[in-house]
Amino acid sequence: MKFFNSYEDATRAEAYSKLEFAGTYYLAYRDLPEIITKHVHGNKAIDFGCGTGRSSRFLQKLGFSTIGIDISEKMIQIAKKTDPKTDYRLIKDGDFSQLTVHSSDLVLSAFTFDNIPTKEKKVALFSGLASLLNQDGKIINLVSSPDIYTHEWASFSTKDFPQNKCAKSGDIVPIVTTDILDKRPCYDILWTDEDYKKVFAQAGLKVVQTYKPLAKGTEPYAWINETKIAPWVIYVIKK
Ligand SMILES: C[S@@+](CC[C@H](N)C(=O)[O-])C[C@H]1O[C@@H](n2cnc3c(N)ncnc32)[C@H](O)[C@@H]1O
Repeated sequence: MKFFNSYEDATRAEAYSKLEFAGTYYLAYRDLPEIITKHVHGNKAIDFGCGTGRSSRFLQKLGFSTIGIDISEKMIQIAKKTDPKTDYRLIKDGDFSQLTVHSSDLVLSAFTFDNIPTKEKKVALFSGLASLLNQDGKIINLVSSPDIYTHEWASFSTKDFPQNKCAKSGDIVPIVTTDILDKRPCYDILWTDEDYKKVFAQAGLKVVQTYKPLAKGTEPYAWINETKIAPWVIYVIKK
């Protein structure tokens, strides 16, 4: 199967725009305020792969002046319609020329690298994103853990895709988001922790800290594996 960006699709974009911070997604965003306070100084952010704007709105609520960028016209259209005052920009894949280099305190990438194929492309994108950071700037790369594709979750199912158990870095892995109306699988790219570290090193970046958020069990969600297995990995990276 040839990889395609599942978020270029109008029906998926509309369904995705209804997601906020509930269920398994709660764990992706829960610790970000604390992580950002600890590692990021200043208030200029770029939201790489902003989608329909959820992560950009999140950054704005934390006080960041935010530019959201994405390659999907459908996702950006909804983001702009939802928040007409926010600076959302449609970019060509890997082209950061609309942005000012060495100027950002934070580049957040929330789930975007789940949809980026090949090591070469990841390295090129991380190098490009690094050029947007000021000297003290950080990239926060929030991605799916490989475990997400082989377990059941409050907001996701992979039980119909047993082939995911044999997937290696770079393989296409289907996953269904059970929280939205669009029940077609989304096709992500699996990438292991070990291989992310190789990508960062090749892009001249260093990992400052890695987080693997687990649920406590007291949250108002019907957790399945979230208290035992971390569905997400959050890397804080610097130049
Ligand atoms: C899963 S969505 C996440 C959206 C948003 N960050 C959020 O948390 O709601 C991933 C987004 O990354 C975008 N994306 C994929 N490849 C990209 C690339 N090379 N450059 C910019 N955006 C990309 C997709 O179009 C999609 O909108």
